[in-house]
Amino acid sequence: MKLFNENYYDDETLKRWIEDDSLTDELNQKADKIRKEIYGDKVYVRGLIEFSNYCKNDCYYCGIRHSNKNVERYRLSKDQILECADLGYRLGYRTFVMQGGDDPFYNDDLMVDIISSIKKNHPDVAITLSMGEKSKESYKKFYDAGADRYLLRQETSDLEHYRKLHPENMILENRHKALFDLKEIGFQVGGGFMVDSPYQTTENIIKDLRFLEKLKPDMIGIGPFLTQKDTPFKDFHNGDFRKTLRLISILRILFPYALIPATTALGTINNLGREMGLKAGANVLMPNLSPTEVRENYQLYDNKICTGDEAAECKSCLENRVRNAGYEIVVDRGDVILRNN
Ligand code: 5AD
Ligand code: FES
Repeated sequence: MKLFNENYYDDETLKRWIEDDSLTDELNQKADKIRKEIYGDKVYVRGLIEFSNYCKNDCYYCGIRHSNKNVERYRLSKDQILECADLGYRLGYRTFVMQGGDDPFYNDDLMVDIISSIKKNHPDVAITLSMGEKSKESYKKFYDAGADRYLLRQETSDLEHYRKLHPENMILENRHKALFDLKEIGFQVGGGFMVDSPYQTTENIIKDLRFLEKLKPDMIGIGPFLTQKDTPFKDFHNGDFRKTLRLISILRILFPYALIPATTALGTINNLGREMGLKAGANVLMPNLSPTEVRENYQLYDNKICTGDEAAECKSCLENRVRNAGYEIVVDRGDVILRNN
């Protein structure tokens, strides 16, 4: 078996794979074979806790951007978050992903308190954070408190493209640096990007793949760009479903050991999107554990699925879907098999 990152493909090949729709099935099958050799039929589940939809940033694509006045904002208290974790634990989840907007309300002390409390209650779980760019000092405190993993999609690796997606106060270099800081501290790190975000070219995507080759992430999250009616990008088209499937496969081929989710965005653009994502090489699902009252309000894009379901319903729905697709859910922490440094 080839080791991580030994699979080099030139730009021309990648371009063809990204653009040629007729290659979709072939790429999906090739990727599924690779993930089967490494991870078998195993699909890892992560209980997702969307703990705040406040965000200080204003990314043009995102429904919870600061300037969107049509969002009913919420923050989960420490106790509410611990309750979500307890519920998730009872349902069998052994990884919790705490995802939120970039919300300074959750300062270092509060985060350290929450992280260490979850770890004290449930020493055998992994905690993944997904809460934006922070200082290296803050990340270190989170890590020392017991956080294991951090998701921070780079969104794009091209300066010009980055400027088209974000207002001026956001800086691509900071984001890339944050990812390397996280890695240096010891986190399992996840990068990623949206497929067909406005103004994205094939060359931009290839740059993202090259950036990921440098970063050597443990996790890679991608999903189609989906419009949100209150954002500056409301008139753009949704991302291409099959292109997203091809990119999942390309990621599996380039990064055989990576943990790659079949994302909610993929399940939103196509009813069988997550199942097809698994068949294209993905091996992670992230069912929602957030309290039902707040789910409607965490909408990065329109028509998000599962906003009305209880956590237990999400669990059984996903179990059925995974089984029907021919895979098997596992409930352990699901660490990456090979760390890459
Ligand atoms: N469509 C699809 N994905 C989105 N994200 C943010 N807004 C959208 C959208 N409109 C993605 C970003 C972010 C992740 C949490 O969700 O890539 O990093
Ligand atoms: Fe919140 Fe982009 S709008 S990080």
